[in-house]
Amino acid sequence: MPSKVGSAQTSPTLPSPAQGVRWTTPIVETPGIVVLASWVWRLVRFLVTLPFRFPVMVASAAVSAASWYWFGWLGLAVLWATATVASLVWWRVWPDSFRQWVTLRTLAWWRHVFVYRRHWQPVLVISGLAESYQERRYLPRIRRVSCTSWADRVRVTLVAGTSPADFETRVAELAHGFGAPSCRVVVEGPRKITLEFPRHDTLSEPLHAFPMTHHVDLSALPVGVTEDGSEWRLRLHGTHVLVAGVTGSGKGSVIWSAIRATLPAVAEGTAQVWAIDPKRMELSYGRSLFAQYADDGESAVAVLELAVSQMQDRARRYAGRQRSHTPTKQDPFVLVVLDEVAFLTAYHPDRDVRRRAENAIATLTSQGRSVGFSVLAALQDPRKEVMNLRNLFPDKVALRLDEASQVDMILGEGARDRGANAHLIDPGLPGVGYVRMEGSPAPVRVRAAYVADEDITAMADGYGPSENGADR
Ligand SMILES: Nc1ncnc2c1ncn2[C@@H]1O[C@H](COP(=O)(O)OP(=O)(O)O)[C@@H](O)[C@H]1O
Ligand SMILES: [Mg+2]
Repeated sequence: MPSKVGSAQTSPTLPSPAQGVRWTTPIVETPGIVVLASWVWRLVRFLVTLPFRFPVMVASAAVSAASWYWFGWLGLAVLWATATVASLVWWRVWPDSFRQWVTLRTLAWWRHVFVYRRHWQPVLVISGLAESYQERRYLPRIRRVSCTSWADRVRVTLVAGTSPADFETRVAELAHGFGAPSCRVVVEGPRKITLEFPRHDTLSEPLHAFPMTHHVDLSALPVGVTEDGSEWRLRLHGTHVLVAGVTGSGKGSVIWSAIRATLPAVAEGTAQVWAIDPKRMELSYGRSLFAQYADDGESAVAVLELAVSQMQDRARRYAGRQRSHTPTKQDPFVLVVLDEVAFLTAYHPDRDVRRRAENAIATLTSQGRSVGFSVLAALQDPRKEVMNLRNLFPDKVALRLDEASQVDMILGEGARDRGANAHLIDPGLPGVGYVRMEGSPAPVRVRAAYVADEDITAMADGYGPSENGADR
């Protein structure tokens, strides 16, 4: 029986406290010499490992002690020790700021001395930006090198008689010369420029679709990020946007990010999205989000011509009374999204469809801006014979392109010389491209956020027919 077994194991032989016997743990005394040896060992271990654990602190204390002991510079020793303690406090209390400040400063010094100053003259002479090895006077001067978390910024004073454009046309040589993936020239003032050399690719990781906000600014819709980590904002109101890139370059992510950012205004009734999807691959997922939708030649032309007639009605109403458009429920902003536009204007077998589509797009893009009609079109091949309406789009995005010559066709003359190497974009980085920001000729590298099919389904569920006030 368990109780018997239990009672057999509890010791009837052990006397209980009640019987008056106390048990004490036997004490074995450690010999003093062993204790001493243990303490000495710990001290030695601490002192030996100290320089490895806190190298800066130990070096600093050594400098402090040495300047006092050997040179008798007590003031310097005290100053040095105070600076060390202050640094330690900074490090303990604000570790991030300390790390960033100290690390980036040290890195900037290192890069200045061992990369830029060291290779400056040969790289500039060989790339044709300086005259000769002998004439140091004609060498542009490095004023300062600073580091951000992703790039080196080299401030340069130009030699009289040269211009920032000389550097802009040599960005490929400069990037290769200093071992950077690219180079960007920023004009700071008369004879002052900054060369920006990324140290690594900040756009190598895909970006999830942005969360939707209630406030919609149609002139600055968040659609992705730029290389320096800031938001890439796309203007749609008052302009037209052409997105060019080969198949698989991620045109869909630019289009969907723009639609996603517009949706809250669609729900409010102050914007509408009209979609034309000749390949039936891109936009059909979100069909319920669109006020108008077409996916074959005839219906696409009908939708485009409807947009033209509504735009002209609005223009007639505004004539002489109103110069610009403000989105309202009566006069919403209309975004006409055209995927694979060349299917309509160049490849459609029916000549009449091609001609009517081209006319309608030309009318919309030339007259729609001031009355709240914008076209967002995607295109694979930017050559003139395929798309001679290119110049009617004031804003353009160059994703991965086939040929170097196509870069300037999209981003304008000189864009490739200024570093927009859209033809060299890695096929493994869909959604990466180059744009020109307002007021700056220098192209900026960007990546669009990726709106996955699940995001589109969620958008259609959240902003579908019942929420979307538009007529269908
Ligand atoms: N911004 C992006 N970030 C990450 N992956 C993307 C992005 N855009 C597209 N992709 C991936 O690339 C594939 C092709 O993109 P898609 O937009 O269909 O290209 P396109 O319309 O230019 O032919 C998509 O299925 C997706 O997997
Ligand atoms: Mg596509």
